[in-house]
Amino acid sequence: MTQEEKNIGKKSAAEKAVEFVKDRMTVGLGSGSTVFFAIKKLGEQVRGGLNIKTVSTSDTTTQLAQSEGIKLTSIDEAGEIDLTIDGADEVDRSFNGIKGGGGALLFEKIVALSSKKNIWIVDSTKLVDKLGKFPLPVEIIPFGYKRVFKLIEEMNLNPVIRKKNDEFYFTDSGNLIFDLHIGEVRDPEDMDKELKLINGVVETGLFINIADVIISGRNNSTEIINK
Ligand code: 5RP
Repeated sequence: MTQEEKNIGKKSAAEKAVEFVKDRMTVGLGSGSTVFFAIKKLGEQVRGGLNIKTVSTSDTTTQLAQSEGIKLTSIDEAGEIDLTIDGADEVDRSFNGIKGGGGALLFEKIVALSSKKNIWIVDSTKLVDKLGKFPLPVEIIPFGYKRVFKLIEEMNLNPVIRKKNDEFYFTDSGNLIFDLHIGEVRDPEDMDKELKLINGVVETGLFINIADVIISGRNNSTEIINK
């Protein structure tokens, strides 16, 4: 599938997800190129009178929401979030997924776990039988990162330190990302636990059983997969 075709699928999924947003809701806004379409659609609806508050998961999302005139609040002021719309890098039919390709996994997981309902929007190529072809992002404290890198290497998980323009990539929280080239994650829950036991690991991009609804877009049509 070409990138252009994927983008049409992303837009279809995103716009379908926005149909779940109702007046007076507090809505979590994920990050990434699929969520971009959802924020644009929400912006249109807000300008048409929709009254919502939103919680952002990244600086990029905050800027986009602000430019669309969407009301933002902090996660601590928001309390429980009614619905969060987010993208994913890979998702299986057990509602497990890999996120963090865009580097926002930490805030995305906090917002997801604070939400009554999580809708993931993906183009149909991201639905997989087994997670792991997409390198698993893991957020790491910079202090002592070499030790953590070595430990993950010893687990044969093939970490690569994420870079941007030849410099280390830093998350919105000032942390590093290691992308783990695993190939296949046999047991996502176990892997998540094992990685989080390493001192220096802040969070992993494994989102286990967090999504409630997956909307997969292909061309102008969508498949809604409910848990
Ligand atoms: C960012 C994420 C994104 O949701 C994920 O990378 C999907 O991105 P896109 O919608 O651009 O394909 O987890 O941290």
